Amino acid sequence: MDLRERLTGLDLERDELGDWPTRVEWCEPLGLWVKREDEASPVYGGNKVRKLQYLLPRARADHGGQLLSVGAVGSNHLLACCLHGRRFGVDTHALVIPQPVTPHVLRNAGVLAAHAASIETADNVVIAALWSRFVLARRVREQTGYEPMWVYAGGSNPLGTLGWVEGALELAEQVRAGELPEPEQIFVPMGSCGTVAGLLLGLSLTALKTQVRAVRVVDRLVCNRSAALSLARRTRLLLQASGARELPEVQPERLVVHHEQFGPGYGAPTPQGLEAQEQAASVGLKLEPTYTSKALAAALSAVAEGRTVLFVDTVNSRELPPGGDLGALQDLL
Ligand SMILES: Cc1ncc(COP(=O)(O)O)c(C=O)c1O
Repeated sequence: MDLRERLTGLDLERDELGDWPTRVEWCEPLGLWVKREDEASPVYGGNKVRKLQYLLPRARADHGGQLLSVGAVGSNHLLACCLHGRRFGVDTHALVIPQPVTPHVLRNAGVLAAHAASIETADNVVIAALWSRFVLARRVREQTGYEPMWVYAGGSNPLGTLGWVEGALELAEQVRAGELPEPEQIFVPMGSCGTVAGLLLGLSLTALKTQVRAVRVVDRLVCNRSAALSLARRTRLLLQASGARELPEVQPERLVVHHEQFGPGYGAPTPQGLEAQEQAASVGLKLEPTYTSKALAAALSAVAEGRTVLFVDTVNSRELPPGGDLGALQDLL
């Protein structure tokens, strides 16, 4: 479902990066429905693909194909930028910060090192945000002649969030077509909030009454209910400014944030998460400890309470291209 078909007259460019719709399947052993966003593209799946469909055209049109973003050293977002960007005329400049090292993180870091146009490291997210916006942006400008498009971690600015407005419309279409019943609750990890914000706004455009259950996996300072609602509202304003008429208001009552799965910190595995990850593996879902296993752990609690649950599998499950020399990233691993 292309957002521009539902909201006609939108002045927005969109690349076609994925295989849509991503399928939904009933998972009997877990007792829930799964939206297989992990399969969103044969190149690299996961929840970043939808966001990049709107971000990459802007990077090409206004920034000479130069994109600058930040993330943890095993960032799925930075990897998605590199792997999809290089096919669609966009170079990714990455600034990365440390995170607990798991096998998933190590694999991602190797591929990032091989495919980023440039990589720098920083000690923490505040330094990374400032450094990338000013010092690195200037460096890219000097090297390429273009002001890079600065993209917030996770691709979660209003433009990227449009991708998940589209995701909600796609889901409503699947419910309408009888592929799954109307879920009472959608469980999704919440990091930079774009997926949650987009779903929230998108659902308000549909007849579904479904709640968004956002499982917080990042520090509360940047990942919280206000941040998600603010992003949803700013995305609504972007839609209005792009030509959409008569948009309903964002519906905060649909959003429930779960804090109980966070554990000791970002990227730190939790016992509940690891157990959920094992259960998922037994039915062929390849989750990881930072995002998806924590979200699934929360979803399984809702299943135990008898809810009709949809779990969005947001992590890539496609095989990665070979990694490169870890080079600049060595210090963080
Ligand atoms: C696998 C995975 N799931 C979920 C998320 C969270 O999505 P968002 O950043 O849109 O909140 C991320 C973000 O990086 C991710 O990599």
